[in-house]
Amino acid sequence: MKVTVVGAGAVGASCAEYIAIKNFASEVVLIDIKENYAEGKAMDLMQTASLMGFDTKITGTTNDYSKTAGSNVAVITSGIPRKPGMTREELIGINAGIVKSVVESLLKHSPKVIIIVVSNPMDTMAYLAHKVAGIAKNRIIGMGGALDSARFRYRLAEALGCPQSDVDGMVIGGHSDTGMIPLARLAVRNSVLVSEFLSKERLVQVAEDTKVGGATLTKMLGTSAWYAPGSAVSSMVQAIICDQKKMFPCSALLDGEYGMKDISIGVPCIIGKNGIEKIVEIDLTDAEKAKFKESAAGVRAVNDLLA
Ligand code: 2OP
Repeated sequence: MKVTVVGAGAVGASCAEYIAIKNFASEVVLIDIKENYAEGKAMDLMQTASLMGFDTKITGTTNDYSKTAGSNVAVITSGIPRKPGMTREELIGINAGIVKSVVESLLKHSPKVIIIVVSNPMDTMAYLAHKVAGIAKNRIIGMGGALDSARFRYRLAEALGCPQSDVDGMVIGGHSDTGMIPLARLAVRNSVLVSEFLSKERLVQVAEDTKVGGATLTKMLGTSAWYAPGSAVSSMVQAIICDQKKMFPCSALLDGEYGMKDISIGVPCIIGKNGIEKIVEIDLTDAEKAKFKESAAGVRAVNDLLA
């Protein structure tokens, strides 16, 4: 199975690396507009194959989309990342044009491809991809919730003083510093509600730290994070390629689910060979419903900025 990763920057290259190491795809094509950049990253990654024990063939190309032909899945990471103090939404001007042309180029060479959008502002970029592509809505997925949930689990484990493997939790809503909704009510430590261990105040702090997880790292690193975003999207690629029917919170185009239409926003989804196989409608409390509505209003406000 063939995967294309558009953008050989830190997120794209990390995604390609994790896909290769997990060894579930026969081929990964890295594509970038910078001369020889994707080719160099691909060669460097291929020189780890004998050390890491993978057979995945990674190749790079400078903006030649014919090399991506026949891709089963394509990940769009291209665009400018945040700088410290920036919101994801401030990237829309430049990234919208990039995402539009990338979607068109991908579909020209891989008409059946399933597209995962990472570029920010992600919910709006995913929405734009739906408008540009005009393909079945299950074939375009926004990656944000998988990353935010990983950060939520990290913060929960930190608060609980336990291994992350003992914790599960999910973040829904918009992939923005203010729009994320960590579902602390449903989070568990090995099937026991975390509210059995942590005070309300502590859980509020965990949720707040989760929401600014990206901004916290951008401040520390001077640019957006890449390991966890790359890893999160590689897990979604694996769920598609291996038809895992795995549930992730993803930005999905709603058509009545959660009482909403014509918006792409983070909701629980079953991911398999067809992309979004099912949008899972979970019961939310009135307070969670109110937060979700507010989050959706924030996403729509950014969607309105699309030319
Ligand atoms: C993040 O939250 C890049 O939006 C991504 O780190």
